[in-house]
Amino acid sequence: MVQGVVIIGVQWGDEGKGKIVDYYAASADLVARFQGGNNAGHTLVVEGKQTILHLIPSGILQNSTCLIGSGVVVDPDNFLTEIGVLKKMGIPNLENRIFLSDRCHLILDYHKHLDAARENRKGGKIGTTKRGIGPAYEDRASRRGLRIADLFNESVFEAKLKENWDEKNFLLKEFYGVETVSMDQFMTKYREIARQLKPFIRDVAQILHDEVSAGKKVLYEGAQGVLLDMDYGTYPYVTSSHTLPSQAALGTATRLPKDTLFVGIMKAYSTRVGEGPFPTELNDAMGQRLRDTGHEFGATTGRPRRCGWLDLVAVRYALRVSGIKNLAVTKADVLSGLKELKVCTSYQLDGKKLETLPADTSLLSRATPVYETFEGWGEDLSQLHSANSIPNALKNYLRFIEDFTGSKINLVSTGAGREAVIDIQKAF
Ligand code: GDP
Ligand code: IMO
Ligand code: MG
Repeated sequence: MVQGVVIIGVQWGDEGKGKIVDYYAASADLVARFQGGNNAGHTLVVEGKQTILHLIPSGILQNSTCLIGSGVVVDPDNFLTEIGVLKKMGIPNLENRIFLSDRCHLILDYHKHLDAARENRKGGKIGTTKRGIGPAYEDRASRRGLRIADLFNESVFEAKLKENWDEKNFLLKEFYGVETVSMDQFMTKYREIARQLKPFIRDVAQILHDEVSAGKKVLYEGAQGVLLDMDYGTYPYVTSSHTLPSQAALGTATRLPKDTLFVGIMKAYSTRVGEGPFPTELNDAMGQRLRDTGHEFGATTGRPRRCGWLDLVAVRYALRVSGIKNLAVTKADVLSGLKELKVCTSYQLDGKKLETLPADTSLLSRATPVYETFEGWGEDLSQLHSANSIPNALKNYLRFIEDFTGSKINLVSTGAGREAVIDIQKAF
C-alpha cells in the first residue's frame, strides 16, 4: 500500500490527468497541485456531467481536501471564478476543503497583457495560453513578483505594485504599443480580491507536513506534461514551470511520503496544442479522425489540438528524465475501429537513426518518424473493466508500450467518464 501517488503527464499535456486524478481521489485524503497555473485544463466527467478545472485540484468532486502549493502561480480572478462555479454546482464547504498557499506568486493583469502582447507580435510565437504564466514565473525568478501574502500588507503591496506597474506599463505602451489599465482601478480591484481570497489562505506546507506525518494519503496532481517542462521539454516551446515529479516535493515544500508511486499519464496517441516540433503529427484525414473521435479541442483555450500517432521515442525519453516506471494509458477507446495503428520507435535525421530527443529542438523539427505497424481492434471498450477482457490486439499494443519503455501499465482508461477504467493494479 502506498501513501502517496504523483500524477504527471508524459507527453505534451492533455493526457487525461484530470480524469485519472478524479478516479484515484476516491481513495485519497488530500489532492495537491504543485506547479503551473490556470494554463491547465483538467476535465472530469461524473455521471455524464463535464467539469473543467484550471486551478482547483481535480479531487474536488470527491471528498478530498484540495491544496494549492507554493509552486503554483495563481490568477486570483480565475480562482474566484472557479470557486463560484463549484458553489453553483452545489459543492458544499469549499472554504474548509480548498487551501491556497500564502507563498504562491500572483498572476496580475499586466502579466496577462504582456503574455498576449508577446504572442500577438510577429515572430517568436510559442502558442501560449495567454494566461500570464510565463511573465508571472519570470517575475518570481527576477524577484519582482507579488505573492498572496503581500495582498494583506497594503503598503508593501502598493509599493511593489507601483514599481512593477511603471516598468510593465512602459514595456506594454512603448514597446508593444498596447493600451493598459490604470493602477488606481487595479488597487480597488485587488483590495476586494484580498477580502474574497482570505478564507482559503493557509500555510499549505504545514498542513501537508502534518497530514503526511499522520499517515494520510496524498495525491499530487501535475499539470502540463514532461515534454512541456521548462528544461527537459522541447524548449523553447514549453511552459515556464517544471513538470517533472521532483517538482511535487518542491512545489508543496514537503517530503513526499516514503511509499510514493509515480504514475505517468499517457494518451494512446499523441496531441499537442501550440507551436513546436511534433514529429508524428498527422495533417491528413487520420489526424482529423483522431481529433473528431477524441474531441481534441483545448480545455483551456478551445484551440483544435494537433493530433498524431503515438511517439514512443518521446514517451521513453519523458519516462527516463522523470524516473517514472508506471503508466496509465488513456483514450484507448478513441483508437477502436482503426484497421491498423502506427507507433513511432525512432526518428530519421540526415540519414541517421535518432533514438532520443535532441537538446537542439530545431533538429527535432526536421526529424521524420520511423513507425512500427500494429493490428487494430474493433471492440467497443466502454463496458470492459477487467484486464482479461482486453481485446488481443489492444493487449499487443499495450505490451509493446511496456516493453519499449520498460514500464508497467497500471490502468487503461476507456472513456471520459469516471467509471470507464480497467484498473489493472490499484494505486492506493
Ligand atoms: P488533462 O489536461 O491531462 O487533464 O486532459 P484534458 O482534460 O485537457 O483532455 C483530456 C480529454 O479527454 C478530456 O476531454 C477528457 O474528458 C477526455 N478523456 C480522458 N480520458 C479519456 C478516455 O479514456 N477516453 C476518452 N474518449 N476520453 C477521455
Ligand atoms: P494541461 O494541464 C496542453 C502549452 C501551451 C503552449 C505552451 C506554453 O491541461 O495538460 P503557457 O501558457 O504555459 O505559457 O503555454 O504550453 N500548454 C499546455 N498544453 N495542456 C496544458 O495543460 C498546457 N499548459 C500549457 O499550449 O504550447
Ligand atoms: Mg488539459
